Amino acid sequence: MLDAAIAAHEDAATATSALLRRDGADAGASLPLPHLYARVSRHITPAEWPLYAREVEAIERLKRERNAVILGHNYQAPEIFNTVADIVGDSLALAREAVTVEADVIVMAGVHFMAETAKLLNPSKTVLMPDMGAGCSLADSITAADIRLLRQHYPGVPVVTYVNTSAEVKAESDYCCTSGNAVKVVRHVAKEWGVNRILMLPDEYLARNVQKQVPEIELIAWKGHCEVHERFTPQDIRDLRENHPGVVVLAHPECPPEVVAEADYAGSTADMANYVDREKPRRVVLITECSMADNVAVGHPDIEFVRPCNLCPHMRRITLPNIRRALETMQGAVEIDPALAERARAAVERMIAIR
Ligand code: 13P
Ligand code: SF4
Repeated sequence: MLDAAIAAHEDAATATSALLRRDGADAGASLPLPHLYARVSRHITPAEWPLYAREVEAIERLKRERNAVILGHNYQAPEIFNTVADIVGDSLALAREAVTVEADVIVMAGVHFMAETAKLLNPSKTVLMPDMGAGCSLADSITAADIRLLRQHYPGVPVVTYVNTSAEVKAESDYCCTSGNAVKVVRHVAKEWGVNRILMLPDEYLARNVQKQVPEIELIAWKGHCEVHERFTPQDIRDLRENHPGVVVLAHPECPPEVVAEADYAGSTADMANYVDREKPRRVVLITECSMADNVAVGHPDIEFVRPCNLCPHMRRITLPNIRRALETMQGAVEIDPALAERARAAVERMIAIR
């Protein structure tokens, strides 16, 4: 029931937060967990916060009882990213951090392929997915059978798959990559295999964006798209520049190449956050899932974030109540057949080994 209450409150919060922000700042000290409220006060009204704070307190208690950590992707809603998540980052950072986690239980505040990757790297740990329906349009765009067919069609051509794929697809791959290391991975594979052709799957736009940086290698792409990033158009960027003079445009490489061409910089979610930390633009727009700007903005109160809003419906399936329930019931554990996991793990580990 709280899920529904929070969803309803989220809409109300967006409308009223500007109005209540000043009250919130004043009332902050008298609210529960005031240090956390300070991080989310832009999104949650003071009247709503006690409801969220109760969930946060319950999750913190359960984390201690279960010896659990929560990994949170940069696209997670602010009330998760800024409160209960212990480790946050892009897909590459979460995969790397998953290897070093010492807890018995990992809760993935992200989407299913991220939980699978964490499980591949930690087969003896319990990896919980608060909502098994949190998928990904890219992961759904290709199957293991597709990869086998492509291999028949392109014999001897190595297969690099985006980490946004199922464990079955990873098991058919030679290497994984993320948006943070794709250029490095394809260069490494071309050199190690002594080839100048690579199957880079399934994100067509990522492959085409990477292709521009490696003209010496032919990248064969697939028709997968991210349902969030494919919606941006070059005209959107031109309109943003016209309506917000001086805005610095950062785009994710899952966007169509024509969109990336209009941007000032393209990179993974972590690359974009690092760009903001480093360059401190006066006014910036992140052409990506829109919770990301909310989360980066917390550390940069002096920067104006222009916020077009494309939300990932899969990421939004993760909520404080379903994280609490996962830890209470220990339901939603990700399981992968051990033989398949061994092959999938090899592709992920080959990627992580490239520094
Ligand atoms: P990165 O965090 O690796 O840039 O991934 C973006 C994404 O769409 C994850 O689902
Ligand atoms: Fe998949 Fe796109 Fe959502 Fe990331 S933002 S999980 S790539 S659908």
